[in-house]
Amino acid sequence: MTLNWPPIAPAPGTPSCGPPSFEPERGWWVTRHADVRAALTDPAFQVPAVDTGPPGTLAWLRATVSRFSPPLRHADRRAVAVRALAPLDPDDLRLEAVRLTVAVLHRAEHRVDVMRELARPVPLRTLAGRLGFADPVAAGTAVAVVAAAYHPGVDPALTARADRAVTALLALAPQGSPEVRANLIGLLVQACDATAGLIGAAAHHLLPPGGAPTTARTADLLAEVLRLDPPVRATRRVTVDEVRLGGQDLPVGSPVLLRFDAANRDPQVFSEPATFRPGRPGAGLLTFGAGERGCPGDRHALALATGVLDVLRERCRRDPDPLRHEPHPTLRVPTTLEVSVR
Ligand code: HEM
Repeated sequence: MTLNWPPIAPAPGTPSCGPPSFEPERGWWVTRHADVRAALTDPAFQVPAVDTGPPGTLAWLRATVSRFSPPLRHADRRAVAVRALAPLDPDDLRLEAVRLTVAVLHRAEHRVDVMRELARPVPLRTLAGRLGFADPVAAGTAVAVVAAAYHPGVDPALTARADRAVTALLALAPQGSPEVRANLIGLLVQACDATAGLIGAAAHHLLPPGGAPTTARTADLLAEVLRLDPPVRATRRVTVDEVRLGGQDLPVGSPVLLRFDAANRDPQVFSEPATFRPGRPGAGLLTFGAGERGCPGDRHALALATGVLDVLRERCRRDPDPLRHEPHPTLRVPTTLEVSVR
């Protein structure tokens, strides 16, 4: 384990921990670890409803996947995703990610943009292949288009392209009812930007510009990156009952933003919370959510990211370009991250 890491400043816009706070234009923000966990596991807080659309469109996909499903539909749809993931061996995913990453570096001349050539395509190709999609490369490309428009509130101009990509993905998905195929596509879409953001952030911390790679174990590095530089910064809920949270009374219909980025720095849970300390006790991380809707792909994401990073560590050095992130209300994904290949 490497000691004496510098503290990691919160990403711009990360609030500090405190009681739930309300502002009319943004609703409630929940920032303390205990409050975020309580809201994730209390049925008074539900995922906001989404509108559906004609079959085969992005709106239809969103309304059919477990992620945005109302309570009565959620369990069955989640079961489709959990069943599909169950036979996937994380070690096999890691090794396939290693193989694909090595192949990309082999083809590259001297430089690679980790985000464009590895962080999105490698996990998506690996998962699409293992989940039975025909043409995993085409599936991965289509998933990235859908992911860019997937979260409600993202630029509607992206929707028409995403509609066509959903149609293409339905044609590539394995046989099954439309609902089953939608939830298989949902797995890939959920995996896309979050896993890419994790790989990008971890590569940023692993390969300091102009320096040697850090020596922390990849698993420890990933856990600490997920805590301090999380690719999923927050998730939304709406209250369906009057509810008391963290000493505040929230009326029915309150929009709520659960801030993982703030809760992961809660001093009640993490000692010296701003210190980047790979290998610290892992319990308490909220970046994969919690409760009935917590991420079913956490082990898969970690395995895929480990495969990519283990190769980067051996073969790449970082160019000293500043890191920028894509504009997004809740995700944190680097736009580019150039490395030179040895
Ligand atoms: C670093 C990578 C990832 C992060 C940080 C992440 C985080 C999350 C979080 C926070 C949720 C819950 C959202 C909420 O409660 O509002 C979630 C749900 C979900 N994630 Fe992930 N995820 C990641 C990767 C993946 C991967 C690789 C897969 C698939 C292989 C996946 C599949 C899903 C699915 C299907 C759901 C919806 C679960 C449900 O409806 O019950 N995620 N993820």
